[in-house]
Amino acid sequence: MKKEEIFGEYEEHILSTYRKIPLVFVKGKGSRLWDIHNRVFLDFFPGWGVNNIGHCHPKVMSAVRDQISRLIFVPNSYYNVCQAQLAGELSFYTFPASYFFCNSGAEANEAAIKLARKFGKGRYGIITFENAFHGRTMGALAATGQEKYQRGFGPMLEGFTSVPFNDISAVEKAAGPETAAVMLELIQGEGGINVATKEFAASLRELCDRKKLLLIVDEVQTGIGRTGKMFCYQNYGVMPDVLTAAKALGGGLPIGLMAVRKEFADVLGPGMHASTFGGGPVICKAALAVLRAIRREKLLENAVEMGEYLKQRLYALKEKYPVIKDVRGMGLMLGIELAVAGDGVVEYCREKRLLINCTHERVLRIMPALNVTRGQINKAAGILSGAFARV
Ligand SMILES: Cc1ncc(COP(=O)(O)O)c(C=O)c1O
Repeated sequence: MKKEEIFGEYEEHILSTYRKIPLVFVKGKGSRLWDIHNRVFLDFFPGWGVNNIGHCHPKVMSAVRDQISRLIFVPNSYYNVCQAQLAGELSFYTFPASYFFCNSGAEANEAAIKLARKFGKGRYGIITFENAFHGRTMGALAATGQEKYQRGFGPMLEGFTSVPFNDISAVEKAAGPETAAVMLELIQGEGGINVATKEFAASLRELCDRKKLLLIVDEVQTGIGRTGKMFCYQNYGVMPDVLTAAKALGGGLPIGLMAVRKEFADVLGPGMHASTFGGGPVICKAALAVLRAIRREKLLENAVEMGEYLKQRLYALKEKYPVIKDVRGMGLMLGIELAVAGDGVVEYCREKRLLINCTHERVLRIMPALNVTRGQINKAAGILSGAFARV
């Protein structure tokens, strides 16, 4: 198909729920993407946080090929060796937990919301945070404390109270007799790379213990090595009761995960929650390959080292260009806050074949693959410098 024909089919047949960028990608490898005209792009926002180990990692490809030729799917009413293997591997990286597998971040958060309500035994309140993003389904949307995503879809699911981020006294004030849980991203991704302070995270843990609330940490974007640890909570030394993950866990295939601390593992029993496709053999093999690749290729170490290097390059740009107000983030989850709207910078970069993202209007989101190289960072920093020189 020619590019114009593809655009035509979209125009004619695909619901326009996404703002589209007029590019058609046909091949990917590591941090590189090839478009339909065979032009190569450097991807510093791979898959919106999905391709943490780069595009088409060979280990993921061979795991999927191998599993597809044996057994593509069995439902969760049977035992599935791939899910058992994935759970075993995951257990090296989380607190002692039992897992529930589903297909997306929103679905994982829906599971957490249901678990919180069941745990609450009538207490149904969940405290969330301004500028949070937890997904687009009705429960996750209610948890997403941003009016722009909720507008037109009301009434929202009851029970969510949104309070300012990093403000423990606001949480304390909001926690009433009906509250069952607190839910947060330790680094708000869509909300503009807002980093929770260590004091805030520790105080939240203490408050949840004192008031018998579940602490739910949404690691859909921060998880799977993004911040230099397998999960971001490990940077804080604060253990969640419930963790949700998705995006990068499947290496490009859809998966969602809810990890529940052992002492709450009986809250949801047989028949109370389900997901037909969740944890099927192919996706579990893909996820297993992702986790093993991160370990064997020392990608957490690389994320820390390259994250520090990239941060230094961005700090240097901040010194040079007053349009940059702030550089923040952890590992390879970095944000550049501008004094102006960021769309122009994103477009300029795209013209120079560097893919980045802008969120919250003025925050450039830079999240390269964990196996990004120094050379690729140098190239990206050069293009970014050209962009800032123009604004
Ligand atoms: C922190 C966070 N939670 C949940 C979601 C929703 O995930 P999904 O799009 O897989 O439903 C996202 C997606 O960007 C996210 O960043």
